[in-house]
Amino acid sequence: MRLKDKVAIITGGASGIGEATVRDMVQEGAKVIIADIADEKGQQLAEELNQSEKTTAYCHVDVTKEEEVKKMVEMANDKFGGLDILFSNAGIGDQAASDQLSLEEWQKVIDINLTGLFLCAKHAISVMKNKGGGSIINCASILGHVGQAQTASYTAAKGGVVNLTRALAAEYAKDGIRVNAVCPGYINTPLLDELEEDMLKHLISLHPIGRLGEPKEVAKATTFLASDDASFITGANLLVDGGYTAI
Ligand SMILES: NC(=O)c1ccc[n+]([C@@H]2O[C@H](COP(=O)([O-])OP(=O)(O)OC[C@H]3O[C@@H](n4cnc5c(N)ncnc54)[C@H](O)[C@@H]3O)[C@@H](O)[C@H]2O)c1
Repeated sequence: MRLKDKVAIITGGASGIGEATVRDMVQEGAKVIIADIADEKGQQLAEELNQSEKTTAYCHVDVTKEEEVKKMVEMANDKFGGLDILFSNAGIGDQAASDQLSLEEWQKVIDINLTGLFLCAKHAISVMKNKGGGSIINCASILGHVGQAQTASYTAAKGGVVNLTRALAAEYAKDGIRVNAVCPGYINTPLLDELEEDMLKHLISLHPIGRLGEPKEVAKATTFLASDDASFITGANLLVDGGYTAI
């Protein structure tokens, strides 16, 4: 029960890595706001987890809309009495040749995968400061560290997340707020649904461990960073990548 009595918000909490982290944090004793645009899946997950004890609540939020983000943070306060942990995990992928990418497509990925994390951090920090501290974990990617063809907007956004994490860590350490990032390799989630079989095989071959990661493997790393076990860790980018960036 490493997160006993802690209150967490997990954006993109209805699916994949976010869902696995909701489950892991609840198991560790946290109360969790599941924040997403996928209302049906998010509500179902909250209902399932609340069957034994009321540990979660669902919140509709588009992380690109500041008013909705503000309400999400208020909901954590109203429902569970504060906010200790933010896992900013909502994100989308891209797959397009850069010379064919429209400005609208570029902007959408940057808005969700980078600006959305800034907005969530901005509003979470004001609550955490009043409470004397907290832990923010941003979901970056191996593609915040290395490049890849046909993912210009995603790779640019994730590189931004890596350095946003460092900037916020430097700025708010004095307030007791730690800010870190998890940087997953390829993880077996719906985000990969559109990839062709051959592409998946190729991607697997790039991980020395010889397989894709599982969402719960990222969840475990995230819960660690959220917990007091990581009390001297801030500004870090924790690679959870099966060795992808080691070779
Ligand atoms: N799956 C991978 O291989 C992989 C690798 C590295 C990093 N990541 C990152 O992990 C995070 C989670 O991805 P996943 O693989 O679990 O994908 P996923 O598609 O299973 O989950 C993403 C969730 O984000 C939500 N979302 C999308 N846009 C949103 C918005 N504007 N506001 C609120 N919620 C929104 C979706 O509804 C969905 O529930 C993303 O940031 C992704 O970039 C994934």
